[in-house]
Amino acid sequence: MAKLGLPHRFIPATQPGLAPLLLLHGTGGDENDLIPLGEKLSPGAALLSPRGKVLENGMPRFFRRLAEGVFDLEDLRARTQELAYFVKQACNIYSIAAPIAVGFSNGANIAASLLLTQTDALAGAVLLRAMLPFEPQTTPDLSGKPVLLLSGSNDPMVPAASRDRLVTVLKAAGTDLVYKALPTGHNLTQDDLTIAGDWLEHLI
Ligand code: MLT
Repeated sequence: MAKLGLPHRFIPATQPGLAPLLLLHGTGGDENDLIPLGEKLSPGAALLSPRGKVLENGMPRFFRRLAEGVFDLEDLRARTQELAYFVKQACNIYSIAAPIAVGFSNGANIAASLLLTQTDALAGAVLLRAMLPFEPQTTPDLSGKPVLLLSGSNDPMVPAASRDRLVTVLKAAGTDLVYKALPTGHNLTQDDLTIAGDWLEHLI
């Protein structure tokens, strides 16, 4: 593991031509958590998997929250910048292109924050159970950037209004958005894996 600003794992590509994936875990996860998911979604792709540095009762996260669904916006801004810098450095050190983020829950929320504030950091994103992490002052230009948003229609952790607002903001920013609400809750299902795997395969 190279010395970069965030603890992480990096798995080099074994297949040419696949977009690298930036794996962003949920609350309480770590850099190991989503490696099997990344390997399933895009076999042979390079995987870059950082661990969030914020601890909430010992559980790693990518930014602080004041309560469930209530985010510390100053911390979110700083952590998003830190993650963007990490991704840039890692791309140089490991000689990979800008990655597609695959984020779950808290990881999906910081991936959305990265997309909305650091428009060049990511080649696209798979947002699994995301909400709008903050209300942008201006609409960023994300023209044609591929984004897949999969939510659970019975998800108790993601307020429907915030999820819908994220859809509106991503559309207004010009992303090439695929949005699906699955008949499930916060946890991932086989449908998530199938849809995300197909979506990634057709990006190439
Ligand atoms: C968050 O804090 O980002 C969301 O509430 C999702 C979670 O981590 O539970």
